[in-house]
Amino acid sequence: MMVDAGKSCTNMYVADTGNCGGKMVKVITYGTFDLFHEGHYKLLQRARQLGDYLIVGVTTEDYDQARGKLNVIDSLITRIENVKKTGFADEIIVEESQGQKFRDIKKYDIDIFTVGSDWVGKFDYLKEYCKVVYLDRTKNVSSTMLRTKETPIQRIGIIGTGRIANRFVQEATLVSGVNAQCVYNPNNRSAEIFADKWGIDAYSDIDEFYNVSDIIYVASPHETHYSYIKQSLEHGKHVLCEKPLCLSKGQSMELFQLAKERDLILFEGIKTAYCPGFTKLLGIACSGAIGAIRGVEACFTKLENENNRELKDTKYGGSFTELASYCMLPILKIFGRDYEDIRFESIKNNEGIDIYTKAHLRYPNGLATATCGLGVKSEGKLLISGTEGYIVVEAPWWKTRYFEVHHEDPNDVERFSERFLGDGLRYEICDLLSTINGSAANDFKLTRGDSEALAGIMEMFLKERNNSGNGYENMGT
Ligand code: CTP
Repeated sequence: MMVDAGKSCTNMYVADTGNCGGKMVKVITYGTFDLFHEGHYKLLQRARQLGDYLIVGVTTEDYDQARGKLNVIDSLITRIENVKKTGFADEIIVEESQGQKFRDIKKYDIDIFTVGSDWVGKFDYLKEYCKVVYLDRTKNVSSTMLRTKETPIQRIGIIGTGRIANRFVQEATLVSGVNAQCVYNPNNRSAEIFADKWGIDAYSDIDEFYNVSDIIYVASPHETHYSYIKQSLEHGKHVLCEKPLCLSKGQSMELFQLAKERDLILFEGIKTAYCPGFTKLLGIACSGAIGAIRGVEACFTKLENENNRELKDTKYGGSFTELASYCMLPILKIFGRDYEDIRFESIKNNEGIDIYTKAHLRYPNGLATATCGLGVKSEGKLLISGTEGYIVVEAPWWKTRYFEVHHEDPNDVERFSERFLGDGLRYEICDLLSTINGSAANDFKLTRGDSEALAGIMEMFLKERNNSGNGYENMGT
């Protein structure tokens, strides 16, 4: 994509600059240019002075996300507008992917590549193709500093100290603008061990814990989510809660209503919903690439230690409550919430907990299946079938990294890949932060309606499971 900077170069050759034997000297530079500041202005000014024609590459949101720059505030359009306003850019392009710099240097016949001194050495590999100049960085200003000033650091209080809470702390350190501050667990000893491990504070008094937190991350057992979320909202805190947010539709609706009345954000932490690959997949699936969609099959299975809570808790454990939030996600995002029928089939262990469950949903124009296993292993793939082809997302599809679009001709395959960094929790933390800071850009990824529908499905499933006996069950409605 090329953007007209409002200034064109009509003459490709100018008077001898002393640099390139009379040839117009073309300079290129790149940046995010978020919250445009003096450092950016001076960099562009000096970059322009290096030659006769300046091309500025502005990074796309996707590219910034892919390289781990997760909380850029200004939209691409705003950032381009700000670069344009300086009047230094003769041409503005967008930078979409790694490796583009090399291609641009060739494509635009660049003489000088330049960036600020924070990158010294990093682009020396381009010296083979053009001159590389590192310009002194302007002191004491950066987008990161401005982001911190405009939006104070959000302190996250963590409820629960299990495996996911540990992963969460690691991921939170990678998102600027948040700080994993403290932990609460009714079992004080667990909280203290967790706090020691991560260098944060443990609280045994929950009111004190709320006082030092801005966001509450709820990672406690499923059945405690409702009361912790309610209490957090009543204390005026934003909430990010692990899936399933609630096990009843009524409770979920009540909590979202409470959040709305208090002007607080309530997010359900289904990481897949927020990761760039899944958003890309939905965009492609829903734009007619495989015609009209008629089928969605999602499978997520894990071999679990049978002594773990997930396979011991006869009331709330089991494969469906543990994993169906993931499998239902593409189904609800693609077909919506108005299914005509839902039917569950389960294999249970001796304690009556489902270890393998299939939910079948019928829509007016499509069929969907969610397969969940805890102690039964299958291939974790997602298959979307349409009237003109199908999309297959390779395992583990819930960390969407790679998918293929197939048609009748087996040779006609389009391949897509996207980065999925770390454990992926950073994406939901980042979206939560930008929503708290007033952006509506990510609202579509997992809506209140989606979360309420998921809670309703959990409720139906648990009602049927707990009303039926042990062993093989067809819990059809
Ligand atoms: N730049 C500069 N002086 C500063 C800040 C940035 O010369 N004080 C330069 C960078 O070296 C880069 C360009 O401006 O060549 C665009 O940088 P960008 O990464 O968008 O700006 P930062 O303020 O460094 O952003 P962040 O804090 O998000 O890393």
